[in-house]
Amino acid sequence: MIIIAGSASPKLASRVAKQLKCPILNPEIKRFPDGELYVRLDAKLEGKHVVIVQSTHHPQNDNLIELFLLLDAAKDLGARHVTATVPYLISSRQDKLFKPGESTGTHTICKLIEHAGADDFLTVDMQNDRVIQNFSIPTYNLTATSLLGQYLDKLKLQDPVILGIDQGSLERVRRVAAELNANYDYLVKRKVTQKKITTQPKHLEVAKRDVVLVDDIISTGGNIIEATRILRRQRARKIYVACTHPAVTEDTLQKILKAGVQSVIATDTIEHRTSLVSVAPIIAGAIQQGF
Ligand code: R5P
Repeated sequence: MIIIAGSASPKLASRVAKQLKCPILNPEIKRFPDGELYVRLDAKLEGKHVVIVQSTHHPQNDNLIELFLLLDAAKDLGARHVTATVPYLISSRQDKLFKPGESTGTHTICKLIEHAGADDFLTVDMQNDRVIQNFSIPTYNLTATSLLGQYLDKLKLQDPVILGIDQGSLERVRRVAAELNANYDYLVKRKVTQKKITTQPKHLEVAKRDVVLVDDIISTGGNIIEATRILRRQRARKIYVACTHPAVTEDTLQKILKAGVQSVIATDTIEHRTSLVSVAPIIAGAIQQGF
């Protein structure tokens, strides 16, 4: 087995290779003068199981094209089996039509990954499991919730509440909370008067308690900032954020911290300065177990 490190996920690829105790190959990646991407794998891959690790966050289109070219090159070199490990897959939030004529993109991207040479596909905390149905190859959607919970447990939070931003995140927060044996809940909107609606935890009081807002992805930070404002009004002691995919700009991160978040704890599905938790163990474990 050999790990190929895409340019979007060099640290994660190295961590996966270390976990699997196998060699890692850094592809030759450069640009032609007009900006076109050039990819080369200088290795003998004949008969090998090749694991390509490449997320598809910003610059999304470049990272996606690079993934296709890496898959193609590995197959061309005679790899026996190619695992496309895409810890963060773009367009997994665009899997349904809102207006006629929109391109959801998801179906096309999944088919292109398969057509470019993937024999199986591995991702982490894909928001909609429905996206997986676009593949006809074996596909695995791992979750980082236990890893995030184990990290949070080390923080020795005071009477923690693990909180989801809506009812849809309940299972996610339950998994995280289980790792630190904490209470968990989610935010609901309540109509106070004809004109006034409040948002608050469905069951629990958060006053004087450390609260961890959990989500699969942070993008514009809108949901987190709004939830933080609510929790501060309800006198939460400290507010943390834990997410799998930190798809945030530095400006967004500063806004989140300014709103009152103590720290953002994310994983390295997107390599970022908030990536305090690595998903390498669950990726390596899945590969070792042959999925
Ligand atoms: C929503 O379904 C997701 O779980 C996230 O809450 C959302 O995508 C985060 O987006 P933003 O950071 O832009 O609020």
